[in-house]
Amino acid sequence: MKRMLFVLVTGLITLVGLTAASADDGSAYKGGAKAFYCTGCHGYNGMGSKSLTALAGRDATELLAKLEAFKKKKSSIMGAQLAKFSDEDLKDLAAYFASLKKSARGEASYARDIEPVIQWRCVSCHTTGGEGTDKSGLDLTSYDALMAGTSQGGNLIVPGSPTSSSFMVMVTRKDHLRMPFGAPPLSDDEVRVIKAWIEQGAKNN
Ligand code: HEC
Ligand code: HEC
Repeated sequence: MKRMLFVLVTGLITLVGLTAASADDGSAYKGGAKAFYCTGCHGYNGMGSKSLTALAGRDATELLAKLEAFKKKKSSIMGAQLAKFSDEDLKDLAAYFASLKKSARGEASYARDIEPVIQWRCVSCHTTGGEGTDKSGLDLTSYDALMAGTSQGGNLIVPGSPTSSSFMVMVTRKDHLRMPFGAPPLSDDEVRVIKAWIEQGAKNN
């Protein structure tokens, strides 16, 4: 009888343990706030680079298993990175990266990397009735509108050539016309990912 109870109890503990190790209960929202520890090496939004694999759009359970294994190997690069993260943090990080759109390793994505920046920093003025659209005719509310440019200014994006793209010029120029107009500039990371996206063909990906 005692033995049966033992088996039952260990079985239950294993079950609870298994449930706790599932990536499904991680919070992508909370993981987003911790992800900046990872993107310095694994690229903007975890898009990866020549030397490091992408994290965006990977399977959450697979990511969590890798992170848990790394955490036990304290001497590895990743083990050292993960020392300060709790088991809960690892689940949140796995859920967050799994929730992002996947792209080829090192490839920027319009939907994942570019559109959110434009939505946050540009669309308040560059939409019908906004100050930017009124003055320049430029609407930035969609990929098609962005690629259409303006009747006076022409194309803002020249796929493959950031230096010939006036979009790049407008967000990096040093005078009072630098966009976003009258507001703090885009971050270096944002400028870099826009440049990479244009270099890679400015696709609607
Ligand atoms: C200092 C740079 C650095 C930071 C910061 C970093 N990593 Fe890594 N990561 C690496 C390196 C290098 C490897 C590959 C070497 C290895 O396997 O140990 C790796 C491997 C991985 C892998 C396994 C490789 C794969 O493609 O399956 C995962 C998953 C991962 N990292 C997730 C993360 C997460 C999540 C964070 C943020 C908590 C993070 N990394 C922060 C450098 C870093
Ligand atoms: C606070 C309002 C405001 C915000 C935010 C803003 N703009 Fe503008 N934008 C303007 C105004 C006003 C003009 C017209 C400037 C002029 O010519 O006097 C303009 C003009 C432009 C032009 C020139 C269009 C042309 O070809 O004539 C581009 C390109 C541009 N903005 C891009 C952006 C981008 C990219 C962002 C976000 C990073 C942004 N703007 C955010 C107000 C804004």
